[in-house]
Amino acid sequence: MIFHSESPEQTIAFGLSLGKRLKKGDVLALQGTLAAGKTTITKGIAQGLGIDDNITSPTFTLISEYPGALPLYHMDVYRLDSPDDFLNLGVEELIYGDGVCIIEWSEKVMEILPKSAIVIKLEAEEGERRTITVENWPYEELMP
Ligand SMILES: Nc1ncnc2c1ncn2[C@@H]1O[C@H](COP(=O)(O)OP(=O)(O)O)[C@@H](O)[C@H]1O
Ligand SMILES: [Mg+2]
Repeated sequence: MIFHSESPEQTIAFGLSLGKRLKKGDVLALQGTLAAGKTTITKGIAQGLGIDDNITSPTFTLISEYPGALPLYHMDVYRLDSPDDFLNLGVEELIYGDGVCIIEWSEKVMEILPKSAIVIKLEAEEGERRTITVENWPYEELMP
């Protein structure tokens, strides 16, 4: 599934429609360089999960937790050196837990994520254009 975004608002709206369809245990592996829009799409996904909190980048906290009907665990593994460092944070119980996990810079830890992880690749194009590719989406395709 490919979505072409022309603005941060469109990326958030697309994330919202994804978030509405998520279920307990879903793991979203976000990929893409700095400023590709990983945190921005997460804001939309959180809205779709019914979370009103303002989502901020977990670059320094590594894991942020937002309570909701489905709790959201938002992680950024940019500063980690290895998948083992990730496991040492105790993330397994979150990944196989009661909510939804979103992992920024997941390229670094793909080998320890479940095979069922939904992969969202964000690519910055000219200006505010972003190409967003969703792989392994287990639900009905979204209408563009
Ligand atoms: N179409 C777009 N989608 C998402 N972000 C965009 C878009 N166009 C411009 N931006 C800007 O790019 C930046 C993306 O930042 P952020 O979401 O924090 O990226 P990341 O988490 O991937 O580093 C923001 O400043 C945002 O306003
Ligand atoms: Mg980010």
